[in-house]
Amino acid sequence: MEAGLVTESLETAESPTPVTTGTLYGVGMGPGDPDYLTLKALRVLERAPVLVHFCKRGRRGNARTIADAVVRDPAREMALAYPYTTELHPEDPAYVAALAGFYDDAAGRLADHLGAGRDVAILSEGDPFFYGSFMHLWRRLKDRFPVEVVPGVTGMSGCWTRAATPITWGDDVLTVLPATLSAAVLAERLRGTDAAVVMKLGRHLPKVRAVLREAGLLERAVYVERGTMADERVVPLAEKADDEAPYFSMVLVPGQGRRP
Ligand SMILES: C[S@@+](CC[C@H](N)C(=O)[O-])C[C@H]1O[C@@H](n2cnc3c(N)ncnc32)[C@H](O)[C@@H]1O
Repeated sequence: MEAGLVTESLETAESPTPVTTGTLYGVGMGPGDPDYLTLKALRVLERAPVLVHFCKRGRRGNARTIADAVVRDPAREMALAYPYTTELHPEDPAYVAALAGFYDDAAGRLADHLGAGRDVAILSEGDPFFYGSFMHLWRRLKDRFPVEVVPGVTGMSGCWTRAATPITWGDDVLTVLPATLSAAVLAERLRGTDAAVVMKLGRHLPKVRAVLREAGLLERAVYVERGTMADERVVPLAEKADDEAPYFSMVLVPGQGRRP
């Protein structure tokens, strides 16, 4: 009995009050229109003491703009400005090193909050696990802190909805392609597919258009710019006269499968 008491008092004297760590949330913000936010996303955005978004230097991130409908207290915000976006090729060693350092540093800053017991929500355009920058912080923090990912409506889902273009029918196979791939790889990947989504267009639109023309898919292709956002644009690719495309644009090639 006495020994038990001693042990108890020693434990109390030596163990600091345990701090419950915060949870890291990856919050899918949907494709642009805040009406496509989920109720779950809304709940996390309303409560989390730290709201993180990625952005280009000097600009507001798209995910943060979507959050305008919900977030009105800038004191909770943390902006993470990429050191580079399109200035260097993604495989340039200087780009890889700068991005790795940027993510390491950001993970350290978030770990400080999480370690002190504060929840951190990373705002992620579309779905966090679909080409999301969130994934690079998730990878660095997931073994140290509790994580919850809130799925979101993807950009492509928003785009084919707004373009009134069902993407896959029957047994259609859908291929998602980043436009950053070479023309040869794009052509090869398109050969075996029934439907396609080509993302990350930007300055790659002329290459994508040429590959689709060569594959006989140009007539079916639809160009969507900033789908579901206020300045959305939807146009058949064959009718788009210029080669200008912002980062938030994609080309949809709908499937033509079984339609009983
Ligand atoms: C890094 S990926 C992020 C994808 C995002 N996590 C998602 O779930 O859609 C960025 C690319 O997604 C596409 N994208 C995302 N939302 C879009 C939208 N609302 N309209 C057009 N393209 C969009 C663009 O092709 C853009 O280059």
